[in-house]
Amino acid sequence: MHTAHNQAIGEATGKIILMGEHAVVYGEPSLAIPFPKATIQTTVTQSTGPVTVDCIYHKGLLSTAPEHLANLVTVVDVSLKALKQELKNFSLHIISSIPAERGMGSSAAVAVATVRALYNYFDEPLSHDQLLELVNVSEVIAHGNTSGLDAAMTSGETPLYYIKGQPFVPFSLSIDAYLVVGDTGVKGQTREAVGSIAALMKSNPKETSQDIHRLGELADKAKIAIEHNQPVELGKLMHQAHLILTKLGVSNEQLNHLVEAALNAGALGAKLTGGGRGGCMIALAENEAAAREIAHALSDTGTSNTWVYHLGGGSIE
Ligand code: PMV
Repeated sequence: MHTAHNQAIGEATGKIILMGEHAVVYGEPSLAIPFPKATIQTTVTQSTGPVTVDCIYHKGLLSTAPEHLANLVTVVDVSLKALKQELKNFSLHIISSIPAERGMGSSAAVAVATVRALYNYFDEPLSHDQLLELVNVSEVIAHGNTSGLDAAMTSGETPLYYIKGQPFVPFSLSIDAYLVVGDTGVKGQTREAVGSIAALMKSNPKETSQDIHRLGELADKAKIAIEHNQPVELGKLMHQAHLILTKLGVSNEQLNHLVEAALNAGALGAKLTGGGRGGCMIALAENEAAAREIAHALSDTGTSNTWVYHLGGGSIE
């Protein structure tokens, strides 16, 4: 039996889907990257009595946490069972800069950070596969089905190419460009957006499957553009993807305004990211100065937050 530390920390990052959202549901490829500019940290501290949690959504007993913290409650439960430990005598403190329900993977990230913190606290080794298993089991219990993309992205450091049902394929982010991320400040509506495409698939199957397939082709081309350091080409592909996603009804006015503002401010391309109808958009900039200009234009147009991220060296500013 290992003795617990007095305190232990676990961390995770956000994620951004570059290309292939929605199409991935229908077996087409997608590209996603870890987003280390938005992070989450869970601290486990020794205490006595029932487990408490301190985060922006809840301060008090874990057992009385609100419904939208179901994933946290579940991941703690699943992890303690695996660790053969009891649900008592520690507190959880969670600090996050990943906005919730914006397609940045905050739910999986809180689970990743918490599993890591608990394993550190109880001084047990944790393999990457074990971590993914625990996070995915909790995500399925708390949210229903999941592709596993968020768990993989928020726990790793590698960009991934993903086709449903196939292993994740790491790819190299060898593109010298900047990504600007704009948060509409409004929760994304992934479930509704996925449902509306499913409805289109029924009412207009031929055209909808063509559009979905085209999104997959764009994701494949984007991977090649990234690997060959072709920012201008990548920007064009992103723009085309946004137009198709809009046609499929998963964008909204606010996202379209931000995309337009980014293009007017000199972006090489811009699109929504994730489920859409709220959440975040991304824009590609050829250099840092251009990225800052785009970020300003986005703030002026109405974002709750913007991030500028250097894709090339994977460096964090
Ligand atoms: O909004 P997010 O980051 O959960 O992304 C949803 C991605 C979709 O392709 C729209 C749905 C899915 O399950 O892959």
